[in-house]
Amino acid sequence: MKIGWRLMEEKKRAVAGREDEEGSSEMGCRRMRRRMSRPLVQEVFDLCKDVFRGPGSVPSPTDVQEMRLILDRMTPADIGLSEDFFFNNNRAVNETPRMRYMHIDECGNLFSIGVFLLPQSATIPLHDHPGMTVFTKLLFGSVRLRSYDWVEPFEPEDDLPSQIALAKLKVDDVFRAPCNAFVLYPASGGNLHCLQAVTPCAVLDVLGPPYSVHDGRDSTYYQEFPYSSFSGAAHVAEDETDQYRWLEKIEQPSLQVGPADYAGPEIIKGF
Ligand SMILES: [Fe+2]
Repeated sequence: MKIGWRLMEEKKRAVAGREDEEGSSEMGCRRMRRRMSRPLVQEVFDLCKDVFRGPGSVPSPTDVQEMRLILDRMTPADIGLSEDFFFNNNRAVNETPRMRYMHIDECGNLFSIGVFLLPQSATIPLHDHPGMTVFTKLLFGSVRLRSYDWVEPFEPEDDLPSQIALAKLKVDDVFRAPCNAFVLYPASGGNLHCLQAVTPCAVLDVLGPPYSVHDGRDSTYYQEFPYSSFSGAAHVAEDETDQYRWLEKIEQPSLQVGPADYAGPEIIKGF
């Protein structure tokens, strides 16, 4: 069973050195060396093929844990990025730093893998990932992440503009690489989120299923209002009101996102 095999692979890595000392068979050592030499980004791609099962599905807790184990080990070097890229080669001379997206790979309607490269102070406005599970790994730099989940079910006690609903704060903090991966589920974990680069940073996103305007999987953008703006429409404990925001749908803000070339290890589809 593939899942079992993957778990075994992780365990084998952990004890590989000890096994070598204990004199594992020559064939076992060769197999181990081959697995260990597989680039991490290739491991992510291969695992995605098992973890993401198409629209309407959510990875199992076991699959999520396996993906996190791999992502938690990733560094910028694993996708061919160096600090030099951020501070020298990310732009032409005299060009204003701008946000870039580095597409790494994808697989039909199952998943996509890519990296946002954000210059200092760049912001990805509050948006959602409808029906998607998102693994987000900060590879480099510092970023402020703020995320929400919808309060559901929610019946307003007072008139509310139709495009506004109540959300509860999930995370509002600054993170600095290296740090562990986040997981945003379709209806929990902070699927609604925004990012602001405290320093130049690189954020790896593994999405499943990927964006598809045709299938209704396009991000919606929101602006936030404090709970007090429409406090008559909901009943929240007084000492918790700072944990809630009203979110209103807005048109997609103008985002200047340029491309960036992927210079990491080649992804082999049939590994
Ligand atoms: Fe996002």
